[in-house]
Amino acid sequence: MKRNIIITGGAGFIGSHVVRLFVNKYPDYKIINLDKLTYAGNLANLKDIENKPNYKFVRMDICDFDGVYKLMQDEQIDGIIHLAAESHVDRSIKDPFTFAQTNVMGTLSLLQAAKLYWQSIDPDFCLPTSVFRFYHISTDEVYGALEMTHPEGIEPPFTTKASSGKHHLAYGEKFFTEDLKYQPHSPYSAAKASSDHFVRAFHDTYGLPTVVTNCSNNYGPYQFPEKLIPLFINNIRHRKPLPVYGKGENVRDWLYVEDHARAIDLIFHEGKIAETYNIGGFNEWKNIDIIKVVINTVDRLLGRPEGADLDLITYVTDRAGHDMRYAIDSSKLQRELGWEPSLQFEEGIERTVRWYLDNQEWMDNVTSGDYLKYYEDMYSHR
Ligand code: NAD
Ligand code: DAU
Repeated sequence: MKRNIIITGGAGFIGSHVVRLFVNKYPDYKIINLDKLTYAGNLANLKDIENKPNYKFVRMDICDFDGVYKLMQDEQIDGIIHLAAESHVDRSIKDPFTFAQTNVMGTLSLLQAAKLYWQSIDPDFCLPTSVFRFYHISTDEVYGALEMTHPEGIEPPFTTKASSGKHHLAYGEKFFTEDLKYQPHSPYSAAKASSDHFVRAFHDTYGLPTVVTNCSNNYGPYQFPEKLIPLFINNIRHRKPLPVYGKGENVRDWLYVEDHARAIDLIFHEGKIAETYNIGGFNEWKNIDIIKVVINTVDRLLGRPEGADLDLITYVTDRAGHDMRYAIDSSKLQRELGWEPSLQFEEGIERTVRWYLDNQEWMDNVTSGDYLKYYEDMYSHR
């Protein structure tokens, strides 16, 4: 089957993995990567597929309503996978307006363009045979923070049984489920929460065929080194301090990025319209513990004595409004569509550290900002 799909934010971390998966897996699809190329967008993330015949890059802002609507018409699209966003919590604390502009207004603009375009190709509104989908990628941070509670007498982490039936380590008894009320705390998560509400409103009001997913922390290649794991790998390599916020006790649920991309593929094709699915790794870690794993892995791969760089750990002032614990219950996705993470964390982190150490040129370009100058030359005449 031929399909024409816009993927927004395809030059970013997760977006580039989704674009790569779709371009390689579906040669009959045309994949249009719509990205503004902010500081977080990097076309070097897609070097291996940039010349494939079923791939096209368009530099555009999701807030550009006319441009986006025309692109939908020109390309006769039948699906949108929306990842473009401002994604870093610390930046949102410094500059909340940009987050409202892109994540809220940008998503609304994209929804309105999609609705008008979809109504023009499907005047009967959502024919049962229609494959048209607006798939919005969101975050677990919209649910707020979970407590580090534990069963009587047992110190966390303790082993618990997920509703999927599998045992795993957890730092609390509660998990984020799809029916939980939204309680975002950071400007980033507030903006993402707002965009999720608009997506659902466009389904409920206009019948737009939408799907929303909320995922936990991703890690893997091509992540911008402002986020914990790539920042720390690079700092360890260069023996720079590792700024641990607060006591390093906050808990995150980590998922290898390619597993997220596989989930997105499955949900885009088989997810039920108007549904929400949580995506997570059942893989909770305290920051300080994950940092020690990263230090030991980098040291081992660089041939340094194990733990040689533990003294780089530097406790700094905590992030404002720092959410204590995130833990996703993704058993609905497992039950209904058969998805589960494919990679054990030990293997994922080894692969990730190896990738950053092997791709120092990518890291140097990103940290020096050279990749941005390249775009200015490339796109200054348009
Ligand atoms: P990222 O910051 O690495 O990439 C964002 C991409 O969006 C960049 O390529 C950027 O150029 C583009 N972009 C930003 N503003 C734009 C605009 N106005 N118009 C067009 N393009 C624009 O982000 P990421 O970590 O890959 O996250 C992608 C999506 O997944 C986001 O919506 C984020 O909220 C969500 N998410 C991320 C994680 C995670 O752990 N990284 C987890 C769950 C959900
Ligand atoms: O949960 C999903 C979210 O995960 C996504 O929606 C966000 O886009 C993504 O950025 C990520 O948010 P976090 O704030 O959890 O990720 P970050 O890598 O910034 O931080 C992970 C944890 O590490 C967090 O508790 C803060 C802490 N931290 C982070 C940095 C950058 C530090 O202690 N020191 C640091 O320098």
